[in-house]
Amino acid sequence: MRILVTGSRGQLGNELRRLIEGGTAEIGPIPEGYRDAQVDYIDIDSLDISDAAAVDAWFDEHGPYDLAINCAAFTNVDGCEANWTGAFSANALGPMNLARSCARQGAKLVHVSTDYVFPGNVEGERLESDVPAPISAYGRTKLAGEGLALASNPRTFVMRTAWLYGYVGKNFVKTMLRLAQSHESVTVVDDQVGNPTSANDLAYEILTVAATADYGIYHCTNEGICSWADFAEAIFREFGTGTKVVRCTSEEYKEMNPASADRPHFSALKNAHLESGVGNRMRPWQEALASYRANFDSLAN
Ligand SMILES: NC(=O)c1ccc[n+]([C@@H]2O[C@H](COP(=O)([O-])OP(=O)(O)OC[C@H]3O[C@@H](n4cnc5c(N)ncnc54)[C@H](OP(=O)(O)O)[C@@H]3O)[C@@H](O)[C@H]2O)c1
Repeated sequence: MRILVTGSRGQLGNELRRLIEGGTAEIGPIPEGYRDAQVDYIDIDSLDISDAAAVDAWFDEHGPYDLAINCAAFTNVDGCEANWTGAFSANALGPMNLARSCARQGAKLVHVSTDYVFPGNVEGERLESDVPAPISAYGRTKLAGEGLALASNPRTFVMRTAWLYGYVGKNFVKTMLRLAQSHESVTVVDDQVGNPTSANDLAYEILTVAATADYGIYHCTNEGICSWADFAEAIFREFGTGTKVVRCTSEEYKEMNPASADRPHFSALKNAHLESGVGNRMRPWQEALASYRANFDSLAN
């Protein structure tokens, strides 16, 4: 099997590499088919996915591929508000370019998307069939990317995830731990709820789903719902920092950070397609966080 992983220096890209090279995730071994896979792990320094001609040329030179997994994205949610062109190029045109090249070579594409495609104005968990209506530039560009990828290659899986943290790269867990080094208390939003998700668990489900031909949209988050403030408290407890969480509203946070993007209040996802398809192996988020803590000192950088 020949595989292309884009955005491979990021959080998810690093976990995919760990799983493919090691043969196993924290939640279990990955499908046998990946054992002898030849994988090109690349990032923006070797290929900017928003450049259609460059993507075509890459596939011509290094393909044909059986599978491409797109982990590349403009993931700075606040930064997308100020740089629509950059966000749209990476998050919408990028997946379209990859999907077109995949279609040309008969390859499958896994494109990773986000809970922020939903407006977050309804309590409960969103299904794959629920209507998206993003409220941020990040969410709008990611939704456009989903549609363009699905329309450009019939063999496309869209995996929507949320509140992602991996061992390598930047994320909320590491930000909280950094703040804990210099603060006795940290102020965190309490009126946005979602699903903290381990990149290692997501990578497992991506590889499992990609081994099938059951294309379409998937929700893939760890099980259980909490607020950012609850998540921060769990992180401080798990890592034993003793740091206090001061709860605030989104409105109060916005007053302190006026350039920040609007975020959905309720963006929890239900892994319905996983449940009806390959099976939902995603753990409760607290269990995934405990594994992350256990491995943090040896794996995080
Ligand atoms: N992080 C989250 O909380 C979260 C939540 C929901 C969904 N997701 C989605 O999950 C996926 C993986 O996220 P992640 O957290 O692993 O991302 P990440 O750590 O930010 O990694 C993304 C990688 O893509 C690269 N990249 C950016 N623009 C590119 C371009 N035009 N061409 C090629 N590479 C490019 C980045 O390079 P630079 O660093 O040099 O820009 C970076 O190495 C993304 O699709 C994201 O939208 C993430």
